[in-house]
Amino acid sequence: MKKAIYPGSFDPITNGHLDILIRASKVFDEIIVLVANNPNKKFNFSPKERVEMIKESTKDIKGVTVDYYDGLTVEYAKKVGATHLIRGLRAVSDFEYEFQLASANEFVNKDIDMVFFMSRGDKSFISSSSIMQMYRSGVDVSSLVPPSVIKRMK
Ligand code: COA
Repeated sequence: MKKAIYPGSFDPITNGHLDILIRASKVFDEIIVLVANNPNKKFNFSPKERVEMIKESTKDIKGVTVDYYDGLTVEYAKKVGATHLIRGLRAVSDFEYEFQLASANEFVNKDIDMVFFMSRGDKSFISSSSIMQMYRSGVDVSSLVPPSVIKRMK
């Protein structure tokens, strides 16, 4: 039984995140999408709203559940018996950040490993903040985020 955590800010969840999650669900039996805290960010949506949006958009993906945790992701992973953390890589620029994150996680707990999925080409430009910026400027972003997000943006 392979159990993994897919952590992120998900502010909000995008079709890019969903693509990674759907592909990862073919590798792991159980995935917990974890709304985690990044103290460097100012959020658009509350943790509760982010969890709700993810729940609604992932309800049909087998083995996926959603949770929120305000501590270290690897601590949460250990607590629930997960062995891997899933992350998406969009471009070379993501690598440096992910490498630092992986190293910090490894320092805290060597037993939890990270697994990376490459973003599909057509999703590699998507980021939560760029979507919010486009939306606020009147751009139709309905092809970039699930309906549960559009509903709350309005
Ligand atoms: N498709 C679309 N967008 C993607 C993406 C994908 N496949 N992969 C990443 N992104 C985007 C996100 O939308 C986000 O965009 P934004 O910055 O414009 O909002 C950006 O990439 C990175 O966000 P995210 O993946 O959510 O990472 P993060 O840096 O906000 O947070 C955590 C990373 C939450 C996993 C990390 O901070 C964490 O684990 N925090 C808990 C405390 C901890 O354990 N810290 C680590 C040890 S010190």
